Amino acid sequence: MSILNILRYPDARLHKVAKPVTAFDERLKQLVADMAQTMYEAPGVGLAASQVDVHEQLVVIDISETNDQLQVFINPEIIWASAEIKLYDEGCLSVPGVYDGVERPAEVKVRALNIEGESFEIHADGLMAVCIQHEMDHLQGKVFVEYLSPLKRNRIKTKMLKEEREEQRKRAVR
Ligand code: NI
Repeated sequence: MSILNILRYPDARLHKVAKPVTAFDERLKQLVADMAQTMYEAPGVGLAASQVDVHEQLVVIDISETNDQLQVFINPEIIWASAEIKLYDEGCLSVPGVYDGVERPAEVKVRALNIEGESFEIHADGLMAVCIQHEMDHLQGKVFVEYLSPLKRNRIKTKMLKEEREEQRKRAVR
C-alpha cells in the first residue's frame, strides 16, 4: 500500500469529471487500498478518486471512530433525496483547514457497486449523508467551496495559493 498525493484546491484537475469504473480487477483493489490508507493517514472521513488525480467514479468513506468501517462506492448514483435540507459544516482534504456550512438533503438513497462489481443500495442520514454527497460531488468535478459565496471562495483560493507558495519556499530553503 502507499500514500497518494492529494490534490489541493484550486488545482484545475479537481474539476475533471470522473468516468465510470469498468474493470473490477487487481488494479482497482490496489487503488482502493491506497486510497483508504491515504484517507486514514490524512486523517479524513472520505476520499474521492478525483482527489488523488484518478478520474474514475470511486469513493472511500469511513465515518467510524475506530477506522475499521471502510465503505467503498463505485459508480454511485443518488436514487432518492429527502425534501428536508440540513446545514452542516463541511471540510475537505483538498481544502485543508477550511470549514464552512453547506446545505444538502438530510437523507439520501445511493446505489453503487462494490469492489467485486456487485450492486448494493444504502439509505444514508446524518454525517454519512453529508459525506457521500460531498464525495460524489468530487466525481463531478465539484469542490464544496463552490457552494459558498464568490467572496468567500476567492478568499479561500487566495489563502490556499499563499500556503502553497510558503510550502514551496520552505522546501527550496532545505
Ligand atoms: Ni472533499
